Amino acid sequence: MFAAACLVLLVFDRAPGAEAVNRGLRKRRSQTPPEPPTSNATTAMDAALTVKLPAVPPFKVGRISVPHSDLTLSRIAYGSLHFPEFKDNVTGLTAALEACQKVGVTTIDLADVYGWIEDGHGAANDIFAEALKASPGLRSKLELVTKFGIRLSGGYHIDLSPEWIHESLDRYLTLFDTDYVDVLMIHNPDPNMDVQAVAQAFKEIKEARKARAFGISNFHQWEYEALRDAMAAEGLKLSVHEMETSVLHPDRITDDTVSYFSTGENELRILGWGALGGDPYGGSNLLFGSEGEREKRIVETLALKGQELALEEDAGLGKKQTVTFGPDEVAVAWLLHHPGNIVPIIGTTAVARLMAQTTPAEKIPFRDLDFDDIMSALHY
Ligand SMILES: *[C@@H]1O[C@H](CO)[C@@H](O)[C@H](O)[C@H]1NC(C)=O
Ligand SMILES: *[C@@H]1O[C@H](CO)[C@@H](O)[C@H](O)[C@H]1NC(C)=O
Repeated sequence: MFAAACLVLLVFDRAPGAEAVNRGLRKRRSQTPPEPPTSNATTAMDAALTVKLPAVPPFKVGRISVPHSDLTLSRIAYGSLHFPEFKDNVTGLTAALEACQKVGVTTIDLADVYGWIEDGHGAANDIFAEALKASPGLRSKLELVTKFGIRLSGGYHIDLSPEWIHESLDRYLTLFDTDYVDVLMIHNPDPNMDVQAVAQAFKEIKEARKARAFGISNFHQWEYEALRDAMAAEGLKLSVHEMETSVLHPDRITDDTVSYFSTGENELRILGWGALGGDPYGGSNLLFGSEGEREKRIVETLALKGQELALEEDAGLGKKQTVTFGPDEVAVAWLLHHPGNIVPIIGTTAVARLMAQTTPAEKIPFRDLDFDDIMSALHY
């Protein structure tokens, strides 16, 4: 059935860079009939693992511009928190990265603390470095979002000293054998940060062309504004803000954080971590694996919505078939539908699941009504 569906080879490889990519996407969704999905994703999470991958990608995710930079990101990003699962299995990671390439996911979210070994050095980055080495030319096709600043030696603390900023960045450059990172990102805010010192370090990095854009993660508004103003004094701007956004934790959406950071002069490109309810500490999924009442209700709502959004698909040979969507795909579609241009980060290490979660999510004929239906099921 999957193979038959793949005959429908509809490729939407939108040109990168255009400001209007996402607006265009929204328009296309409402004005033209949706493209038929290419996989029967009824059983989503686990059954997806047994799905045979298409030889030719049926669909590619779009791209989206990054404010105050010449950078674009893929509309869905791939997270590296679980990369340590690929230990001694670089071919597994290479396969996952190839699958990403096929569906147009080129933005990789990294952190030196994932798979922590010592400060500034984690197993996730080590394995990713091996995969880059195994695939010459791959680095230039990816956008590397590189987080730094969390230190665990001597207890958890944030180090945003200029020395640590430079050291952290240089570790990335050496490990990945590259001259630049795409986004250099402060992993967590430090209320005591010396914003002038950070801005000065960023200026040196910009002048040395070691980072194409700067980002923050998990910042409060006042911390952002302090750093923004210090950077403005150096002629620099922030471009990306990574924060938790998901059906499980919609707080940043409901408390207007996403609105603040996605409109007007404070517009940053928002990366959404934990987009499918993933555990930030790398444990099992907190949404789909949960026995909690709220979690079960959310998954049920998503599953029903996935059935309701069923599409008629051409199965070839004049036959039609109905395709529905899995709860995980609907969860991604929900984030993509928000007008804040959230780029959900997907972190599965299962290649087939990754394809299932990325490819159809943008194709689900999601309406404002569907967004609201799900929102109303998320009450705590
Ligand atoms: C390596 O990773 C791939 C992709 O996740 C997986 O299918 C395979 O079983 C892994 N191999 C080993 C030896 O762990
Ligand atoms: C989709 O998959 C489900 C579960 O495997 C199956 O019951 C259903 O018949 C499939 N639908 C189509 C149209 O193939």
